[in-house]
Amino acid sequence: MSIEATTIAAPSRPVEATHPDGTIHPVWLRVTHWVNALAVLMMIGSGWQIYDASPLFRFAFPSAITLGGWLAGALLWHFAAMWLLVVNGLVYLTLGLASGRFRRKLLPIRPSQVLADMRAALSGRLSHDDLSVYNAVQRLLYLGVILCGVVIVLSGLSIWKPVQLRELVSLFGGYDVARYVHFFAMAAIVGFIAIHVTMAFLVPKSLRAMIIGR
Ligand code: HEM
Repeated sequence: MSIEATTIAAPSRPVEATHPDGTIHPVWLRVTHWVNALAVLMMIGSGWQIYDASPLFRFAFPSAITLGGWLAGALLWHFAAMWLLVVNGLVYLTLGLASGRFRRKLLPIRPSQVLADMRAALSGRLSHDDLSVYNAVQRLLYLGVILCGVVIVLSGLSIWKPVQLRELVSLFGGYDVARYVHFFAMAAIVGFIAIHVTMAFLVPKSLRAMIIGR
């Protein structure tokens, strides 16, 4: 049996998944995606340098993969990139909700479909033919990382302004807990990036579509 015949089709194509001119990803999505990627890399690199000044665990990040050179330099990078991340993230969330893209592309997520697509992916049978439809594993990962983005910003605000934002801090269960939440949200985002970038290079036409739109 041919590979084509055994691939599992992505969930049925939602209405208006592709623009009539063939564009899969609108310009606003591509711009906010790449600005976000840049902001996230700056946040992570500088965040690791800040962590090294007062580690939560018995390890430190090698200075070669950190940004800022020393604590004060890293804080400057972190607070500068923070504005880029938050403003760009708000634009992405607003347009994603207002345009109905999130509803069309990221929902619904059915656990049975996630399991089926995960099994198909691990056995190399998951189809990537139709780039306009995300499979259930992608939907779960994308919604998950968006949620991690919200959590990392809120926990970051808590440890940046703990006095002014004491209600937010208590929502996390205190300053120390907010610090751990901030760290684990970073770890989840780094895990996502490792899988996400690997997949982007394994399916190069998806990378092309995120650059030129189709
Ligand atoms: C240099 C690193 C990155 C590369 C090469 C990359 C590549 C891609 C590609 C090719 C897609 C489209 C997937 C598809 O059509 O199947 C995509 C979508 C997406 N990426 Fe990335 N990405 C990168 C960094 C990031 C980062 C850092 C995040 C978040 C922390 C992120 C979050 C997302 C999300 C949420 C989507 C879905 C967007 C939507 O449809 O609303 N990406 N990425």
